[in-house]
Amino acid sequence: MPLLRDVFIKLSENQVLNDATKKMGLKFGANKVVGGISVDDTIERIKDLNSQGMSVSFDNLGEFVTRRSDAIHEKDIILNMINAIGENGVDASASIKLSQIGLNIDYDFCIENITEIMDAAKKHNMFVNIDMENYASYEDTVRVIDHLMERYDNIGTVLQSYLFDAKNDVYKYKDRRIRLVKGAYKEAPAVALQEKEDIDKAFELLIRLHLTKGDGFTSIATHDHNIIEKSIEFIKENDIPNDRFEFQMLFGFRKELQKELVERGYNVCIYIPFGNDWYAYFMRRLAERPQNINLIVKSVTKD
Ligand code: FDA
Repeated sequence: MPLLRDVFIKLSENQVLNDATKKMGLKFGANKVVGGISVDDTIERIKDLNSQGMSVSFDNLGEFVTRRSDAIHEKDIILNMINAIGENGVDASASIKLSQIGLNIDYDFCIENITEIMDAAKKHNMFVNIDMENYASYEDTVRVIDHLMERYDNIGTVLQSYLFDAKNDVYKYKDRRIRLVKGAYKEAPAVALQEKEDIDKAFELLIRLHLTKGDGFTSIATHDHNIIEKSIEFIKENDIPNDRFEFQMLFGFRKELQKELVERGYNVCIYIPFGNDWYAYFMRRLAERPQNINLIVKSVTKD
């Protein structure tokens, strides 16, 4: 379905639709994959997931911010969420996109914002994960992460298996808490694997390396049941204890599989996006898997 994929990617990039949907509340079935618009709504979803035995990592939706005032506004929303999590005593960590808090504006400005977030998170004993975005921001992102890792122990990041550099980074961060993913952006053949089969193989290798080469914690972030089962086999063969890894999935996807993994005794963490900038995220999820279009159909036929 490459054509449909391109349609959803184009829709995700449409500025008029992105702006219009910010004022609309969650529509077209987006509430199935987005935790809520407000901090309060999202806290209720987090409580619900916690009650099902799952931890959560929240993500304030929106990226590639270009104005300082917007970056500060987004940082303040993240701080509100961190404080609400602390006050409510729910089990949640933070996932942060640096392009949302100034990485594309000015490095020092971004450092100021992320430091404020790190300090608030530290106060609440909360883990912060820096999401990995497109390859154009890879170097700057790693620079920020390495700066933070010298100062904080509650920080980790994401490694994308499609990148040629990923294996080196697994060794570099072998003693850290790292989320491993296949990679979500369209990258050039000069820097990234292009074939799904190669990306999957690289992903499996990174999982095995990170699980065994250091003292880190491995978050295996995928909806791919084959890779999940192969990882479990490897974990059993190598006697890797449960406190060294978890499975992560996006909110609303493969709910049965999430539940099954909890029942089998594994740690499961749900990545829960929230906020009014939900439209591009929703369209990208549809582009990834056009079968998800049934979310829209169901929501429209219900209204
Ligand atoms: P993939 O899409 O390759 O699917 C493999 C197979 O799994 C499918 O063929 C199908 O059989 C099955 N499957 C997948 N989804 C299904 C569904 N909904 N229902 C039924 N079957 C399904 N990327 C990035 O670049 N930077 C980041 O920071 C992050 N962060 C992140 C956090 C978390 C928690 C997750 C889960 C993912 C990310 N990603 C990411 C996205 C990631 O890189 C990747 O694009 C998506 O997870 C899609 O790849 P999968 O491994 O999930 O399966």
